[in-house]
Amino acid sequence: MQTVTESPFTLLHSSSQCRARCGEVRTLHGTFRTPVFMPVGTLGTVKGVTPENLKELGAQIILGNTYHLFIRPGHELIRSFGGLHGFMNWDRPILTDSGGFQIFSLSDLATITEEGAAFRSHLDGSKLFLSPEDAVHVQEALGSDIMMVLDTCIPYPATRDEARRATALTGRWARRCREAQSGTGQLLFGIVQGGMYPDLRAEAARELIDIGFDGYALGGLSVGEPKELMLEMLEASVPHLPPEYPVYLMGVGTPEDLVEGVYRGVDMFDCVMPTRNARNGMLFTSRGRLVIKNSCYRDDRRPVDEACNCYTCRHYSRAYLRHLFTSREILAYQLNSIHNLHYYCQLMADMRQAIAEDRFEAFRSSFYALRETPQE
Ligand code: GUN
Ligand code: ZN
Repeated sequence: MQTVTESPFTLLHSSSQCRARCGEVRTLHGTFRTPVFMPVGTLGTVKGVTPENLKELGAQIILGNTYHLFIRPGHELIRSFGGLHGFMNWDRPILTDSGGFQIFSLSDLATITEEGAAFRSHLDGSKLFLSPEDAVHVQEALGSDIMMVLDTCIPYPATRDEARRATALTGRWARRCREAQSGTGQLLFGIVQGGMYPDLRAEAARELIDIGFDGYALGGLSVGEPKELMLEMLEASVPHLPPEYPVYLMGVGTPEDLVEGVYRGVDMFDCVMPTRNARNGMLFTSRGRLVIKNSCYRDDRRPVDEACNCYTCRHYSRAYLRHLFTSREILAYQLNSIHNLHYYCQLMADMRQAIAEDRFEAFRSSFYALRETPQE
């Protein structure tokens, strides 16, 4: 059975020189512009920042995790609060990951059968089970705007046979997820696996297209493989996806990865890096990375990034942020997170504008050129 869907994506501009493109995606909680970066709010909070902060720094859509919210506090509780939007006071779009990836990376003793994934809670060891149908029903209870199919994760490295079997199972689960939907208007994205085998990725893409999804994600990347291999896998996957649907690269990455992903046709990204690194005192700037605890910032009156317009950079010096961080003050985490998330969201906004003006190649060159200029 093929589900005929109208794409939620409108393509606005395509680069004349590469695969970069900009557009917009329509959801139940409004439209967001692409390419877009989605801050990660695993547990119903983007760590260290309020929804107001998120809006001010320019976040259009955030990500939540089915695995974590299913274990605690439970999707029925969240449903009773009006879904994740009502529970966490965020009225813009939310994408939820299905739990597939987290079951593999966080829980103990995950066993995969045709029926679904059996695993133990990483919190108390209790036995749990998630089928593809459960993953959709939990995400329907969470009320996310974009749901992800339950997939299986392929470790790196994996043999061709391991990759082939896991990819085939992901395809069968994807079909079950599509058939389990209850007509809520929430979007559902398929996930292309295939390990590091281009032909398996092409075949996975074909199968998902045959089922018909509202968007297509690339999974199983940035799992320890060399950077060039990840880019090769992007090039082996994106051309097989229908250009009228959004393309989402899961769990990636550094600012350079975002630029290279957009260059190769990716529309959506998520990564814990801006928030996690903020909490570790590593700040992203247009000239590269800055480690705020370094003694060279002790009396530095400049903002983190002279080119940044975020709340943190408008009001605070590197010296103050270094003081907060070395004193382990809570405010350090908030101010650093606001800056890093703003940097990521602004980078995407700059890319959207460059694509709209058909100067993405020049943007990409100047992005790298700026990083090569020495930083005091
Ligand atoms: N997040 C990062 N990579 C993946 C993946 O392959 N699958 C899912 N579901 N989530 C991810
Ligand atoms: Zn800033």
